[in-house]
Order: sequence, then C-alpha cells, then structure tokens
Amino acid sequence: MGRSSQSEDYVLRGGRAGAERLRVLNRVKWPTTEPLLRMAGLRAGMSCLDVGCGSGDVTLKMAALVGAEGHVVGIDRDQSIVHLARQEADKRDLPVTFRTLEAEELAEESVYDLVFSRYLLSHLPRPQRTVEAMVRAVRPGGRLVLEDVYFPGHVCYPPNAALDRFVELYQAVARAKEGGTRRSGCACWRWRSRPGWKRCASGSSYPLSAKARVRGLRRLRWST
Ligand SMILES: C[S@@+](CC[C@H](N)C(=O)[O-])C[C@H]1O[C@@H](n2cnc3c(N)ncnc32)[C@H](O)[C@@H]1O
Repeated sequence: MGRSSQSEDYVLRGGRAGAERLRVLNRVKWPTTEPLLRMAGLRAGMSCLDVGCGSGDVTLKMAALVGAEGHVVGIDRDQSIVHLARQEADKRDLPVTFRTLEAEELAEESVYDLVFSRYLLSHLPRPQRTVEAMVRAVRPGGRLVLEDVYFPGHVCYPPNAALDRFVELYQAVARAKEGGTRRSGCACWRWRSRPGWKRCASGSSYPLSAKARVRGLRRLRWST
C-alpha cells in the first residue's frame, strides 16, 4: 500500500525534499557503501533487492554494478519518492524496477542473490519483522547486507553543544514518532548470526569529512 511523502510515523521528510537530502547522504556514504557491497560479493549478473530504497541512489548504483545480466528491485513505502526514483531510472538504461511497498509486506521467498537495506531499520517500530522478511527473500546461498546508524555515535571535536542537542532531540522526536531504536547500526550486529547462516561479518565505518573519507574507509573493520 502506498503512502504519501509525509507519513506521520516517519521522522524525516519524504518526496522531493527527501530525495534531495538522500542524494547528499549518498555522496557521503557511497565511498563506504560500495566496498561493503563488494565485500558481500555483489557482482555482475546478480539479482538484488534494496529495501527502503528512497530515491534509489544505491539501487541505481547496484544496477550499474550487476549490469545487463542482472536485475535490481528497489522498494519503499513512500510512493512520491518511488516516483522520483523511477524518473531517474528512466533517464538511464539500467536493469532496475521500483515498487511502492511496506517493508513488512515483502512476501517474496528465496528470490534474490543479495538483499540490501541502508538506513531503514532505524526508522521501524519492529525492525526484526522486516529483517525476517528480508531473510526469507534471500535465496539459499545468497547474502543479506544491513547498513544502519548508531545515532548516539555522532561526535564532534572540539565539543559542540548544538550538535549534542541535535543528537538528543532527533532521537527523542524519532522515538516518539516511529518507536524502535536509533541504534540499529549496532542491533545489526545482534541480528547477523542465525542457525544455518555462514560467514557472518559485521563492521563499522565513520564518515568524517570529505578529506577524512579515505581514513573512514580504512577504518571499515570486519570481524568474522
Ligand atoms: C533514510 S531513508 C534511506 C533511503 C536509502 N536506503 C538510502 O540509503 O539512500 C529511509 C527510507 O525508508 C523508507 N521507509 C521508512 N519506513 C518504511 C517502511 N515501513 N517500509 C518501506 N520503506 C520505509 C522511507 O520512505 C525512506 O525512503
């Protein structure tokens, strides 16, 4: 079921304003998201799903990486942002499909080589249910890649009272509107290991500044 861009239980703006913000986010995050996806084995020919895809910035990059032999599906509940993602896809010749869908309503089973989600779980009241749906959507031998935020991890040096207040207020407002937790980046670590799963890995990255991106990338640590 589609929703408008200003869903009452979503803390951020959706629609065009949301798409513009997500474009900036992807400029900062793609330098660490891309190696994460490659480490997880994303390659040409794969069939992939991007859950909570927003304006499709990652979905389109994934589509370029899987190439004509593969396919990527992006789903999001915000129908206006999905519309913008489709418009962007129409400008390029990429193997991609966008659908308006509630993450919990994902009902596909054993379909995708790789299922991905970035910054969705921290907006959900019951993230575990969506993780279960994503797990079902992965085919045997496939991969699940979860990327999310640990919001209290924002730091500034020298200390900045305004940033501290922003971090506090954002979490309070998001908790009131969405429920759930703004610490999903760490909860992903907890969800990573399940019976039957092989080669689970988790790590962290710290986007700092344009110059520090490379340092952040070096700090992308993995444990297995
Ligand atoms: C912070 S944005 C991240 C977008 C994208 N993954 C990225 O990294 O650029 C979160 C997205 O999740 C979507 N979303 C929030 N709750 C959702 C739900 N219950 N089902 C599907 N999408 C949802 C929002 O509409 C928004 O587009």
